Amino acid sequence: MLRDVSCGELRAKDNGRNVTIAGWVRKIRDHGEIIFIDLWDRYGITQIVFSPEDGALKERAKKLGLEWVIKVGGEVRKRPEEMVNPDIATGEIEVKATTLEVLNAAEVPPFVVQENLTAEKELRLKYRYLELRRSLALKGFILRHKLMQSAREFLNENNFLEVETPILAKSTPEGARDFLVSSRMNPGKFYSLAQSPQLYKQILMIAGFDRYYQFARCFRDEDMRGDRQLEHTQIDIEMAYPECEDIYELCEGLMSSMLEKGIGEKPSVPFPRMTYKEAMERYGTDKPDLRNPLVLNDYTKIAKSGNFGIFNQCEVTRGINIKRLFTRKEIGELEEVVKKAGAKGLLYIMNDGGKFRAPFEKYFENISGFGVKEGETLLLVSGKEKEVLVSLGVLRCELGNRYNLLDEGWRFLWVTDFPLFEWDEEENRWAPVHHIFTQAIGDLRNIENDPGSVLGKLYDLVLNGVELGSGSIRNHNPDVQRRLLNVIGMTDEEADEKFGFLLTALSYGAPPHGGIALGFDRICRLLAGLSSITEVITFPKTLTGAGLMEESPSVVPKKDLKELKLEGLEE
Ligand code: AMO
Repeated sequence: MLRDVSCGELRAKDNGRNVTIAGWVRKIRDHGEIIFIDLWDRYGITQIVFSPEDGALKERAKKLGLEWVIKVGGEVRKRPEEMVNPDIATGEIEVKATTLEVLNAAEVPPFVVQENLTAEKELRLKYRYLELRRSLALKGFILRHKLMQSAREFLNENNFLEVETPILAKSTPEGARDFLVSSRMNPGKFYSLAQSPQLYKQILMIAGFDRYYQFARCFRDEDMRGDRQLEHTQIDIEMAYPECEDIYELCEGLMSSMLEKGIGEKPSVPFPRMTYKEAMERYGTDKPDLRNPLVLNDYTKIAKSGNFGIFNQCEVTRGINIKRLFTRKEIGELEEVVKKAGAKGLLYIMNDGGKFRAPFEKYFENISGFGVKEGETLLLVSGKEKEVLVSLGVLRCELGNRYNLLDEGWRFLWVTDFPLFEWDEEENRWAPVHHIFTQAIGDLRNIENDPGSVLGKLYDLVLNGVELGSGSIRNHNPDVQRRLLNVIGMTDEEADEKFGFLLTALSYGAPPHGGIALGFDRICRLLAGLSSITEVITFPKTLTGAGLMEESPSVVPKKDLKELKLEGLEE
């Protein structure tokens, strides 16, 4: 090795030791007589000293630049009491240099590499390796590594086999667009990059693997919002013969183990469960953040008891009661929030020291019937049920964040019993809420008679308002699977063309099976306390899908397109 110690390991007990150390020049303090260098690597920072008596060596040290890679030989010295730096683990010592070798010089960096970066995001992504070359940045990846190892350990102990499945796949719709890959050997034909291993893992159950997992890379050509990337990693799980409860229990064990080994915390298990209907009615979202104490309540009946036109004409009136009073300006701002989320407007009743204030006060004989106590405000939205719930759900989040109402801690939640289908206005057909391979609950005749009323054995795992994972118990009966495909508008011929391989496999003795996929990037970013999954992804894409460092995507030479029979696309 070119070094015998890292930059993070020397302590007072090493006083007098001769060492060879290597790393990046992070900081240079040239006091003329004496030069201090902070040498950095993944393990920490060590102070190197070049003293007056060093003559030629010190002169060479003067020529060093930031982020140069150097190797220093020298003696470990305890620092004088007043020079101890309690902020770093090696703060009690320094290395007095006796030799210096430049292993590699560096250009002047486009931004100063330091823990708190202020450089523009785009510049950082272009020089991602400089952005990453910091203890703060590496922390997220070290946690990611730990979480990955602990998940593996847990699943291995529970008899799951780690299995890989193809990335070059056949298109299996999961709600996003596919990335297509042309086939040189089959001109005009395409693979799609797997959006998830969904069908492969189901077929592995048919193949008798019994318990499967994979850290699966998934590729989806979809619009990227905060917690979405074009490629992401799932802890993908499937098992034979499960009930929903078995999947819940398994994931509770898995998440507990990851939290414990990754960050030394223990969530309380079992995680609470709530149906989709209950989640929508109480929280206005299918991924409620339970750290937020606010809930939605139904005021339709009392609202319709007065003579106020809006209340009387609207299907429902729901509201959030919050213990505070608002200014007119604040109400205006909150109204903008609900309007943006689809509501027509925001109404309120405030109880200010026993006196009610409400824009519709005069239409009610007894406004106290709304149950607003002193110092409270009831914020109300009227309209169609869905738009009312969704907009109040957004308002609930806004109020929670704005007024710091969120508790500390890890609030997991299972949301269950989602509808199997939802009506797609654009496509003018029924579409699966999750994916089309899910088993229905209850009377199967309703699949055709009233698709909107059918619930599925579908569940989402939510943590602090973020959807961590989704899964379901699958159809193992080929005839029922075909009926579901018919409901979303596929003829038998289309079903055979797209999913014939699945329908065939299901007809050769498919055991009942089910599973889940947990978004690993989201887990890592939440447990690391970071605001974006891009901080736990080595080389993330920008919102427009660009890899700024390597400049992807890029044009390819015309001759390559020709070979793939894709000519016509200009270079
Ligand atoms: P689903 O599509 O819900 O289910 O994905 C499972 C979980 O993966 C994460 N996730 C993402 N993370 C980052 N960027 C993305 N673009 C992205 N898309 C999804 C989320 C999500 O909850 N095959 C099914 C699972 C199953 O039924 O077993 C599936 O992929 O955390």
